[in-house]
Amino acid sequence: MVQVSSSTSPVPHPPAQWNIGPLKLRSRVLPAPMCNITDRPFREILRSMGADLVYTQMVSAEGLIRGDKGTWSLLDIQGEQPPVAVQLLGSEPERVALAAKIVQDQGAALVDLNMGCPARKVTGNACGSALMRDPQRVAAIVRAMRHAVSIPVTVKMRAGWDDGQILALDIARICEAEGADAVALHARTRQQGYRGQADWRLIAALKQTVKIPVTGNGDVTSPADAVRMIRETGCDAVMIGRGLIGNPWLLRACERAMLDFCLGLISSEDDVPSDEMVECEEGSTRALIRVPRYLLDVNLDQRFQLVLQHTRMMVQTKGERRGILEMRKHTVQYLRGLHGARTFRERLMHIETLTDLEKALQEYREWLQKRLQAGAAINHSEQQRFSEVSTEEK
Ligand SMILES: Cc1cc2nc3c(=O)[nH]c(=O)nc-3n(C[C@H](O)[C@H](O)[C@H](O)COP(=O)(O)O)c2cc1C
Repeated sequence: MVQVSSSTSPVPHPPAQWNIGPLKLRSRVLPAPMCNITDRPFREILRSMGADLVYTQMVSAEGLIRGDKGTWSLLDIQGEQPPVAVQLLGSEPERVALAAKIVQDQGAALVDLNMGCPARKVTGNACGSALMRDPQRVAAIVRAMRHAVSIPVTVKMRAGWDDGQILALDIARICEAEGADAVALHARTRQQGYRGQADWRLIAALKQTVKIPVTGNGDVTSPADAVRMIRETGCDAVMIGRGLIGNPWLLRACERAMLDFCLGLISSEDDVPSDEMVECEEGSTRALIRVPRYLLDVNLDQRFQLVLQHTRMMVQTKGERRGILEMRKHTVQYLRGLHGARTFRERLMHIETLTDLEKALQEYREWLQKRLQAGAAINHSEQQRFSEVSTEEK
């Protein structure tokens, strides 16, 4: 654990609203760009949970310029409720600038440069996190983007290449000098990938280094985490990635906690209701299980309804077969922890049509209901909680 001590210090409560360049934002919680996750349907789900600025996944600058169909399908922002940020992947300054112009013309509210992707096929082309090792190139790309567009230009970076090359502070200074409007830091190195822990001390150091807004990212999985990150690091906003997959309710809960913090209604993460230990009864055994308080408001029906809504949007956007296949990873996460989820997951892997999925979900929901009814000793409010999480499936 390499995070700053959480000892309570005088807390500056930032105003609820903030800006990236001329873009006014009402929320200090941002969903992170995620490849194969933050497509149009998921962005719309996030929006329904109160997201303000949403990001596309990374889009290849070269693919856009070449008119590659697959790449253009990732730039599916037309008609979408603004503001939408588009993240570009590239390494040639003039090409990235040209792509930034395309992105602006398509209606993006902000264009972001990916300087974090650790995948070998990306870094092998001098893109993603590999850019951090070439400061002159970074300067040239940000400068060219800045000249090409009038929308805000931002950069999302990692801590550095590896433990021996922590580069974020130097690179952020360069980005700021070349006209970037904000930086986001996923405080892990390229070498770490998604392992280990994000070093929030670097986010705090970055905040001291540049004047442009700093978004902190890495390991926020609860409303208390979000408040702790902003309090400990002084960052302007908190970005959440993996925690939102199958759990977009987290976004709403983090936004509420962050708003309370900004309004001075709470002064630290200690004031955020923590995960609750809920005592549940199953047959003759009683077990204590951990349920995040914000999920106590989400009953089984709402959970299943969201899976269905998300699935239908996927099918509508991508066609039935692709939509159903791509939805599998979301569905597994939405239902994780429920009784029988493992068995349902196996069934899910053989389903390829919307009708079959609707039928399977309905049967699973009914099976869960019967199980609950069998536990006659459980009162109604416990039923709701009990229905959410199973100890056996964790
Ligand atoms: C499946 C997946 C895809 C990702 N794709 C992108 C991407 O396209 N662009 C990007 O900047 N970061 C991407 N990331 C990194 C996330 O934006 C984020 O920085 C990282 O997951 C750390 O945040 P977290 O701890 O809240 O998940 C991806 C992460 C995951 C798990």
